[in-house]
Amino acid sequence: MTVSSEYSLEHLISKRAAGRKKIHFATALTEGAPHGYIPHKEPLYMSGGMPNVGFFPVDSISVGVADYPFQKQFELTHSNGSLEALSKDLKKLDVQAESTKKVEIAKIGTDKNLIDIRQGLQYSHWNGMEQLLEFTKDFITRTHPPAHSDWSTILTTGAGDGILKCMDSVLDKDDVVLMEEFTFTPSLMMIRETGATGVPIKLKVSSDSEGIDLEYLTDLLENWETLKPGLKKPKALYTIPTGQNPTGLTQSLEFRKKIYALAEKYDFIIIEDDPYGYLTLPPFKQPEGTQSLDEFLTVDEYIKDHLTPSYLEIDTSARVLRIETFSKLFAPGLRVGFIVGHKRLIDVIAAYSVIVTKFPSGVAQTVLQNVLFQKFGGVEGWLQWILKLRSAYIHRRNLLLHELTQASAYQKGLIDVIDPQAGMFVSVVLKFPEGTDVSEKITLLNWKFSAYGVSVVPGLNMAVDKEFSASRGNFYRLTFVPLNTDAEVIEGAKRFAAAVDDFFAKGLEF
Ligand SMILES: Cc1ncc(COP(=O)(O)O)c(C=O)c1O
Repeated sequence: MTVSSEYSLEHLISKRAAGRKKIHFATALTEGAPHGYIPHKEPLYMSGGMPNVGFFPVDSISVGVADYPFQKQFELTHSNGSLEALSKDLKKLDVQAESTKKVEIAKIGTDKNLIDIRQGLQYSHWNGMEQLLEFTKDFITRTHPPAHSDWSTILTTGAGDGILKCMDSVLDKDDVVLMEEFTFTPSLMMIRETGATGVPIKLKVSSDSEGIDLEYLTDLLENWETLKPGLKKPKALYTIPTGQNPTGLTQSLEFRKKIYALAEKYDFIIIEDDPYGYLTLPPFKQPEGTQSLDEFLTVDEYIKDHLTPSYLEIDTSARVLRIETFSKLFAPGLRVGFIVGHKRLIDVIAAYSVIVTKFPSGVAQTVLQNVLFQKFGGVEGWLQWILKLRSAYIHRRNLLLHELTQASAYQKGLIDVIDPQAGMFVSVVLKFPEGTDVSEKITLLNWKFSAYGVSVVPGLNMAVDKEFSASRGNFYRLTFVPLNTDAEVIEGAKRFAAAVDDFFAKGLEF
């Protein structure tokens, strides 16, 4: 579907972004040719400051690539116990066992899908290298096809960069953006960078919740002038809809439709930040949940039945900017991500990229594109890698939840554990007695966790406004991904639960 030409996004674009003008210094002779002008057949390129590939000190790049997560650790340690079981399972699932283990990047190559050193280490277009941009479009078409056809993509240096660029494209000084009250706090800093204000929306942090308190949001929008006197009407909603950071909660498609209807009614943009959406997790089941990986999916099944649709898929009025990243699926140090949205918004973002970042590192783009194509063979193979990651995530999530729910703190009803449907965050809600000063007790409990040797994030640390959210800040964010081994996941859960037990036994004192 093409968005109607009468529909305009202009009023939602920041004045700063709309007013940017690109200044070109190289002569681009496009019009006004004098009579008798004939272009030279073999002009010599002496305009751009692009060093010839012969000046580059790198002749080739060789990248060794794993067939499944933790492969190297497994080969090195021949580890026992559940990691071994997991590795064997993942090996069995290795649909590309015979595929290449080394990705060789040539100085000058011939395959159009690949990026050679001549291209990769050279200056390139600020939207990103053509091959990788093509990949992002194919990937989105396969996983989250937008509801309109006027969309495009631009590469970023990760989701963080994507957030800043989306905020810049929409927000002027004194504008307002709605955000989940507990959120990825760097986004708040980026909003402030534009001079705009982030207004928190209440969340429901519980097992049966999809995150945003819809009643609260509807009422807030309906009665904006009364409830937020002096503040402009919101220009955007920033949301992390799947495996939300920090709560781990996920909005269903039905839920998203309701939020989207509000966006249309009150005319705001939805900025969907989704680093975790592809890492879907089936519901945790006791008791076999600790290791079972029998539920391995085909890519078709995964997309049809497991992947929660993006806001893009219901975006009939082209008001969604989706932020993607390779940080959690490939590696954070790569610093590559991309934004999907209406072409006009992507152009506006490109004009900002020219000034702040240009394009993501050529080395990063080159390594990424060549691994995606030489190792994985493109979109389908990449999705198969994501399925393997997903299996390893399920395994670890199961270990953590199994251990937490066996612990006496859980058995005694001192904590609730929220089973995430996606991502890497498990929220543990502390069931303080009614009337507890949550903020005070969380501050004390932080010391207890530290003394027990487990580092976790209090939800309150990720509040947009600590005072506003104090009563709902009785939860901690635990993540099962940074640890080295299964044994560490189990030990981390034990320490966390024991610290809670101790804290409650001492009457909520250290
Ligand atoms: C919600 C959210 N957005 C963005 C980011 C940043 O991602 P990147 O490393 O791609 O900049 C993170 C990282 O933790 C995140 O949780």
